[in-house]
Amino acid sequence: MNDILPGASSAWQHLESVLREVVHAYGYTEMRLPLLEKTELFKRSIGEVTDIVEKEMYTFEDRNGDSLTLRPEGTAGCVRACMEHGLLHNQVQRLWYGGPMFRHERPQKGRYRQFHQLGVESFGMAGPDIDAEMIFMTARMWQRLGLEHTTLQVNSLGTPQARSSYRAALVEYLKGRYDELDEDSRRRLESNPLRILDSKNPALQVVVEAAPVLPDYLDEESREHFAGLLALLDAAGIDYEVNPRLVRGLDYYSRTVFEWVTDQLGAQGTICAGGRYDGLVEYLGGRPTPAFGFAVGLERLLALLQESGVEFPDGCPHLYLVLVGEQGRLRGLVFADELRDALPGLRVQCNCDGGSFKSQFKRADRSGAEYALVLGDDEVEQQTATLKPLRTDAGQEVLQQQDTAARLRKLLASAPV
Ligand code: HAM
Repeated sequence: MNDILPGASSAWQHLESVLREVVHAYGYTEMRLPLLEKTELFKRSIGEVTDIVEKEMYTFEDRNGDSLTLRPEGTAGCVRACMEHGLLHNQVQRLWYGGPMFRHERPQKGRYRQFHQLGVESFGMAGPDIDAEMIFMTARMWQRLGLEHTTLQVNSLGTPQARSSYRAALVEYLKGRYDELDEDSRRRLESNPLRILDSKNPALQVVVEAAPVLPDYLDEESREHFAGLLALLDAAGIDYEVNPRLVRGLDYYSRTVFEWVTDQLGAQGTICAGGRYDGLVEYLGGRPTPAFGFAVGLERLLALLQESGVEFPDGCPHLYLVLVGEQGRLRGLVFADELRDALPGLRVQCNCDGGSFKSQFKRADRSGAEYALVLGDDEVEQQTATLKPLRTDAGQEVLQQQDTAARLRKLLASAPV
């Protein structure tokens, strides 16, 4: 679990605001969901024999003896909330949420026990156009962030019936090669054989490569749905790879699944993943409701952006007010507020607790501000202020206080003022 320190938070804010802008541009609305849900909800949604439920959940009993779990992902809670508040009856919904998720995984680069997702979910739309829209949305996120080096992988898991005939064929094949399986795969053979295809064990790759593939077992409707999605991606010029071994680690998916992966981050290269989960609402006790969604892993996305050399706004103040003498101190806080009124978005830090001219300039420099603005007794008397650039060699200028905001607006053309 990471602390996000002051030096890092502006990159997070930039990332989150770009992602928010994109989801809003597609008409999605925010949901704010609890961090805790009943354990049962995750067991039923994600699946009893998944890694998440078997090994990774932070589960405890509360004071009433109820078993609760810190959310390992957001889809289950989102569906629970929509059902509880009647948001799914004869309506479509386009929703998003964000925040921390918790999985007790073995930590490594790009894999944390508390990590952050932006999740996006849609309900009530069955056709491939919503699948495509949501994938377009992810492509737009990367484009807006200036991100390269990502590949879109897509697959179709078909209906539960198609999947179960595939599963039978796969189990038969794997039983024939039982001696070559590792312990984990033998255990999964009965419980969750599709996950064996995801195995990271290099020794298993020959077995996996010769295994029957899911697309050969797809039902006709799923095949059409998938072809429809690919046609829409083609029409938009979005490159993709069909990966017949992409199965995902959560049980609720049907038909389309997708992941955006990169080779720049080592083993944890999936920055965004999701798919269709048409059976989940009904399985949790609601009416049959088609659904599609995905989640972006923010730590990984940020790491990839940094790896790619994308620069973020630093969030430093534009201006540091150096206040010398009694008059400067008295006028300073008020003048700073006048500037904030005149230039919404302007970031001003005022020197507090006095200090010599020199020590105040040191603080101004350390704050990262672009300019220092000096108010001393003389300036206050003459209603002026002295503006001194801190990051360039440009000379200082004496401004009338009433003209200062206008001058700053010009100088800070790149700032949101
Ligand atoms: P997921 O594949 O489990 O899907 O997680 C989505 C993304 O969260 C991953 O691709 C990865 O970027 C990030 N992530 C997952 N675990 C960690 C971790 N331990 N540390 C850092 N990042 C991590 C879901 O959670 C589904 N709820 C997505 C979805 C929404 N499907 C339909 N709707």
